[in-house]
Amino acid sequence: MINSLQDKATILVVDDTPENIDVLSGVLRAEYKVKAALSGEKALRIAQSDPRPDMILLDVMMPDMDGYEVCRRLKANPATAQIPVIFVTAKIAVEDERRGLELGAVDYITKPISPPIVEIRVRTQLALYDQRRELEKMVRVRTEEVLATRLEIIRRLGRAAEFKDNETGLHVIRMSHYARLMAASLNISDAWADLVFNAAPMHDIGKIGIPDRILLKPGPLDEEERRVIRTHPQMGAEIIGDHQAELLKLAKEIALTHHEKWDGSGYPCGLRGAEIPLAGRITAIADVFDALTAERPYKKAWPAAKATAIIDQDAGTHFDPALIPVFHEILPEALEIMEHYTDKKG
Ligand code: C2E
Ligand code: SIN
Ligand code: SIN
Ligand code: SIN
Ligand code: FE
Ligand code: FE
Repeated sequence: MINSLQDKATILVVDDTPENIDVLSGVLRAEYKVKAALSGEKALRIAQSDPRPDMILLDVMMPDMDGYEVCRRLKANPATAQIPVIFVTAKIAVEDERRGLELGAVDYITKPISPPIVEIRVRTQLALYDQRRELEKMVRVRTEEVLATRLEIIRRLGRAAEFKDNETGLHVIRMSHYARLMAASLNISDAWADLVFNAAPMHDIGKIGIPDRILLKPGPLDEEERRVIRTHPQMGAEIIGDHQAELLKLAKEIALTHHEKWDGSGYPCGLRGAEIPLAGRITAIADVFDALTAERPYKKAWPAAKATAIIDQDAGTHFDPALIPVFHEILPEALEIMEHYTDKKG
């Protein structure tokens, strides 16, 4: 519930003439809590202190800082920009009205004031302000819901692909943690590390299109089977599709490039070195490290030390050599993640 509906709304009255303040207070006191300021500077201070006024009645002509300047500063400060301002003025020229409205005032009251007009204008603008705040709150809640839903769908899609060749879906969870740790350690931005974390689970979504007889084959793949499995990055990119949202753009990039190799021998495009997007180079290491340390239909789990040795050995051929120290830096934390999200044996 909003302030002004629940309790009395607070109105800040600003005027350099004490008598004018007395007159307005007299009109408003019965229904509202009234605060007063005799100068623009004082008004700005009160407007920023809690509880914020729900409305400001602002005299235009004041010495030092006039009402227009006060209004401009109120609107420039995000903390006070939303508070509705009504100008109270003896000036009635159309030009002046336009200037005030352009500065973001919601209404005008002319002096000498008429009490019923003050009452109705204040009541109307407060009701509009309440509606606006209520609407903004609803939009905020809905936006949060949509974001949370989207993240959940993305996680579940990633796991859906993983359930096809790994019954628990833990691979995508572990490898996305490894990828986040590496991304965070590069200090690009927290937001980017979070994006990598949330996009990486979809890296193998294209495996949905790979027949089980290939994916779940207990032994090594023949050439034709290898050709089929190598379509999963392109298929993943097509499943994710083209979107404005940063998260989905990155998810597509990772799906497409996580099997590229630093020396150009990877697939699907044979990209080389820094042609491979950074997120693809990061997820390549996270993916292989987890594939090696986990049990697969076609292989046993390897000890972490053996997996780490493979990653070191493939620096500069498979993996971006600059990312190998980053991988070692996050390894202790990666091992904790591995411990925590371990596949149940048997
Ligand atoms: P995946 O199981 O998620 O493995 C991801 C990547 O980890 C592999 O990409 C490979 O780079 C690395 N990797 C996995 N196991 C080994 C290993 O034993 N030795 C080494 N040196 N690297 C390993 P890759 O090779 O492009 O494979 C892509 C996907 O193809 C694999 O995803 C898996 O689903 C499937 N796959 C690969 N090899 C076989 C296989 O021999 N049998 C079966 N059934 N599937 C395979
Ligand atoms: C394999 O590693 O045997 C199949 C995947 C590939 O080489 O691309
Ligand atoms: C970024 O998008 O913030 C940097 C990631 C990159 O270099 O690819
Ligand atoms: C980075 O681009 O900041 C990471 C180092 C690299 O792989 O280029
Ligand atoms: Fe893959
Ligand atoms: Fe994978």
